[in-house]
Amino acid sequence: MLVTNAKEVLMKAKAGKYAVPSCNFIDLDSARVFCETAERSRLPLILSFAEVHQTMISLEEAALVGKYLSGKYDAPIILHLDHGMEPEYCMRAMELGFTSVMIDASMMDFDGNVRVTKGVVQEAHRRGVQVEAEIGHVGSNAAESDNSLYTQPEEAARFVALSGCDSLAVSIGTSHGVYKTGTPKLNFEVLHGIADALPETPLVLHGGSGTGDDNLARCAKEGISKINICTDFYVAALDAARAPETADYFAAKEDTNAAIRKVQEHYYKVFGTKTL
Ligand code: 13P
Ligand code: ZN
Repeated sequence: MLVTNAKEVLMKAKAGKYAVPSCNFIDLDSARVFCETAERSRLPLILSFAEVHQTMISLEEAALVGKYLSGKYDAPIILHLDHGMEPEYCMRAMELGFTSVMIDASMMDFDGNVRVTKGVVQEAHRRGVQVEAEIGHVGSNAAESDNSLYTQPEEAARFVALSGCDSLAVSIGTSHGVYKTGTPKLNFEVLHGIADALPETPLVLHGGSGTGDDNLARCAKEGISKINICTDFYVAALDAARAPETADYFAAKEDTNAAIRKVQEHYYKVFGTKTL
């Protein structure tokens, strides 16, 4: 079922010391696999569409797919806009029925990030939609130089108070994408500091792929309530499609779907996700 109160789901995860996976869908197949796996496992899901993937599937198509699939199953499903880069895009997502949006103004300075996030929060709360924001910056190792910036606990607390956001993405040493030089070393001291400073705000970890099961399990236990995974699904899918025994396109689709399902089931275990 489509869940409107994402914060409630994430606060339960925080109290229960587990995390809910945020899975990025890029087409009907991936969205269906994520929802079916949630249903079969009887576990919550954050079904995420990232603005950057609009070349694969438009926001309008993503909203239709997300609303249809979330309505079809009993599993609690949050339809989330991931990395909305402009307030206008977040507004469009809300109008189309997304129940949660991320406004990513993390590349702006503190005041700019607060101003942009606050504007989206005001509009979202009027509509009963919840907002994730980011302070500090989770970069991408695909870029020539990593531009990640750690989140500072006291800055995080000030940011939430000023912006009114419902959940907060923090930067503690992960990065987006596949080009990771080994398992990253996460700064759990920073995570504990942020979690202590924000007992009422669910924290989000971006760049979950390639972070290592031990790191992610620890994050879920020690203060992160939502973990974003994208790349690992599509690396596994590509491997399955390239397997020499793949007979034809139809078989490749089945194999890629199975590979995506396996990664999701794996992360449900690693994150300790519980039935609501
Ligand atoms: P990865 O692709 O590194 O898993 O990052 C996912 C993410 O943060 C989506 O917002
Ligand atoms: Zn991200």
